[in-house]
Amino acid sequence: MSEQDAHRKVALVTGANKGIGRGAAAQLAALGMTVLVGARDPRRGEEAAAALREAGGDVHAVALDVTDAASVRAAARQVEERFGRLDVLVNNAGISGSGPISPDKAVDQVPSTVDLDMVRRVFETNVFGVIAVTNAMLPLLRRSPEPRVVNVSSHAASMTIFADPDGPMAALLPSAAYSPSKSALNALTVQYANELRKDGVLVNAAAPGFVATDSNAHTGVLTVEEGAEVLVRLATLGADGPTGGFFGAEGPVPW
Ligand SMILES: NC(=O)c1ccc[n+]([C@@H]2O[C@H](COP(=O)([O-])OP(=O)(O)OC[C@H]3O[C@@H](n4cnc5c(N)ncnc54)[C@H](OP(=O)(O)O)[C@@H]3O)[C@@H](O)[C@H]2O)c1
Repeated sequence: MSEQDAHRKVALVTGANKGIGRGAAAQLAALGMTVLVGARDPRRGEEAAAALREAGGDVHAVALDVTDAASVRAAARQVEERFGRLDVLVNNAGISGSGPISPDKAVDQVPSTVDLDMVRRVFETNVFGVIAVTNAMLPLLRRSPEPRVVNVSSHAASMTIFADPDGPMAALLPSAAYSPSKSALNALTVQYANELRKDGVLVNAAAPGFVATDSNAHTGVLTVEEGAEVLVRLATLGADGPTGGFFGAEGPVPW
């Protein structure tokens, strides 16, 4: 490792082989960080990392399935052996549960008829996976002078928004899986922030907005670059930055 490399911040983005995670990886690399592209499919991780290196970034793939304890352990070991610490963790990997979000698929998540196994799968990735990865990486984050954790949530997590029966979310997305999983992720974000505040680890939740990706069959209205901006802002907070907050491009999002 060259002296220059030793001074670069090291960022890990889960689920970064495509979509918003890949957009965040590109922006963090453009800021001069060493970026680790977490991907459950090593081949697609390598392809994404190679493309981001082509663009000039110091980017490496790390095999990481957030629902697989052995994979999470191996990824943490790899980061430790290669870099000895981690400065930024972006918990981005996530699934909607019923395939690309669309009006006909929304019916799959109606609470009274939802498939409980699907709910379990969504929580396994969007909630339990975040705990597994965060806890595996925390010893490495604690070695950073400015550790930052960004949990990729959603406006669909906001109980203030979806509790309004006349609001857009209540009518659009009756959801027993995706939306509650992101509300749980928000709660976890605050719990981690409360525990880690004294150690200088800033932990925040990001709502990227409606971004055109595979998760919505590219019906979103924002680009991945636009959606990733709030993740990058929270990944690069100064020491006086917030912790335990929930932010979108527009500023704080109501819980
Ligand atoms: N797009 C939006 O409008 C929007 C809005 C609000 C929040 N979000 C959130 O933003 C995040 C990224 O979503 P996206 O829209 O960019 O979707 P996407 O294009 O489908 O990307 C999701 C990424 O997560 C990865 N992933 C899924 N399960 C995983 C697992 N078990 N282990 C590791 N990686 C896993 C996927 O890997 P594979 O390629 O192997 O499937 C993929 O790289 C998600 O947390 C999502 O909930 C998206």
